[in-house]
Amino acid sequence: MKFFIDTANLDQIKEAQAMGILDGVTTNPSLMAKEGITGEASILKHYVDICNLVDGDVSAEVISTDFEGMVREGEALAALHPQIVVKLPMIGDGVKACKYFSDKGIKTNVTLVFSAGQALLAAKAGATYMSPFIGRLDDISTDGLGLIAEIRLIYDNYGFDTQILAASVRHTMHIMDCAKIGADVMTGPLSAIKGLLKHPLTDIGLAKFLADYQKGN
Ligand code: G3P
Repeated sequence: MKFFIDTANLDQIKEAQAMGILDGVTTNPSLMAKEGITGEASILKHYVDICNLVDGDVSAEVISTDFEGMVREGEALAALHPQIVVKLPMIGDGVKACKYFSDKGIKTNVTLVFSAGQALLAAKAGATYMSPFIGRLDDISTDGLGLIAEIRLIYDNYGFDTQILAASVRHTMHIMDCAKIGADVMTGPLSAIKGLLKHPLTDIGLAKFLADYQKGN
């Protein structure tokens, strides 16, 4: 299972990278705005800064909603750095652009997926990654993890290569449930990743080992 961090915050990206468990980064226009990164030049520079911090794929989202605009923007993003993955919205022109980029060997991430039918279309268009937003489904009393399971079944039925990138992960249990279902990738906040570390018996056990060591020295 790949671990991506879902942020544009460079300190958090550095911290996850330093842990040695990071496989990539996802961003979106909201996450960029949250860090105060605005304006095309600053946003493009920020993508390059992120790529220079990590080894894996970095999703960079287009803001156009028409095919021509997505192609123009996506090509400029892909030219920024070899680690860039062009992130496209799950709309008709986004699917068309996904096919265009996959035919050219440029990696894609189809985002804002909320149904298995949308996931099927993304796979048919050759998406590298397809991002179902599980937290936002949970927010409206709909089973986000159930969607991951449904997509896993469909992709396995046909051997689609598209990777299920569980997105809108909000907490540690989301990560564990995605791992059990077999999501290929999860992207979440650093807090959810660090939550995996926690167990009181680890802390108690370590404190005892250190105390016993001190007694003998
Ligand atoms: O990866 C998608 C993510 O950025 C959306 O997360 O928490 O805004 O639903 P959230």
